[in-house]
Parts: sequence; C-alpha cells; structure tokens
Amino acid sequence: MPLHMPKSFCRDIATFALAVLPLTSLAQAWQPPPRPSTGLMPNPVVGKPLYETHCAACHGIDLKGSEAGPPMLHKIYEPSHHSDAAFQIAAAQGVRAHHWKFGDMAPVPGLTPDDVAHITAYIRMHQRRVGIR
Ligand code: HEC
Repeated sequence: MPLHMPKSFCRDIATFALAVLPLTSLAQAWQPPPRPSTGLMPNPVVGKPLYETHCAACHGIDLKGSEAGPPMLHKIYEPSHHSDAAFQIAAAQGVRAHHWKFGDMAPVPGLTPDDVAHITAYIRMHQRRVGIR
C-alpha cells in the first residue's frame, strides 16, 4: 500500500464493503415486474380457468382462501395496496410470507405475463363484486 494512504483506509474499505455488499445483492435479486403485451385487454373469462388451475388450490376456488393460502377477497389485496404488478411479481418470483402465517408462496411456473394479467382481471372482477375496489 502506498505510504501516503492512512492506515484507516483498509478498515474504511472493509466497512464500506460490509455496508454496501448486502445492498448490491438485494439490488441483484430485485427484478422489474413482468409486463403483459402492449394493447392486451385482460379478460376475466380467459383468467377463470387459469386461476382455477394455478391459483385456486391455495387461494380457494371461491377466492376465499384455503388451508394453504389467504383469500383474494380481502381488503389488503385491493388494487391500491396490491397493484396488478404485485400479481405479476407473485406469479413470477413468488412471495415471501409477510401478511399471513401460511408460509411463502412459491413462483408459479408455466404462466406468461399475459396469462397473469387475465388471472388478475378475474380476481379484480370478484373483488369489485364484494365491494373491494
Ligand atoms: C402453493 C400455494 C399458492 C399458490 C398455488 C398460489 N399462491 Fe398466491 N400466495 C400464497 C400465500 C401463502 C400467500 C401469502 C404470503 C403472505 O404471507 O403475505 C400468497 C400471496 C399472494 C399474493 C400477494 C402478494 C403480495 O405482494 O403480498 C398474490 C398477488 C398472489 N398470492 C397471487 C397468486 C396468483 C395469481 C396465483 C396463481 C397464479 C397464486 N397466488 C398461487 C400461496 C399460493
């Protein structure tokens, strides 16, 4: 090390690395939400069978939840708290348990962002029917 560098330099670098590295690995883990095709008209009729195949086992065939997952007809899943992007992220990347005691939601394979947009439209339709909007 050149003489003019203060001894504390190494310690500062170490402190810096300790402080910043966890942040950069977080940044790497973060991915932007998948986006449906431009111009797609999300359609609840298309979403219904996709929901029933891929989501109902945990979120309930009636969207009221099950022993494995929370109800979608719940105020915390209203659009202002869980945007459509949150549904895209949930399907693509899974969900770390934070609202409930069911454990984590694993990513759901085999769905395109368009599929998830249709599923979301189906869920939104039922949410509106019970006054969650
Ligand atoms: C194996 C069970 C399981 C399946 C299948 C499943 N989920 Fe989940 N999901 C969960 C659990 C458990 C949570 C709650 C996590 C928590 O504690 O907040 C959750 C939470 C969510 C959330 C909230 C995300 C957030 O940001 O809080 C959304 C949205 C969601 N699921 C959508 C879906 C959709 C759409 C499907 C089908 C494509 C699906 N889930 C399939 C178990 C499941």
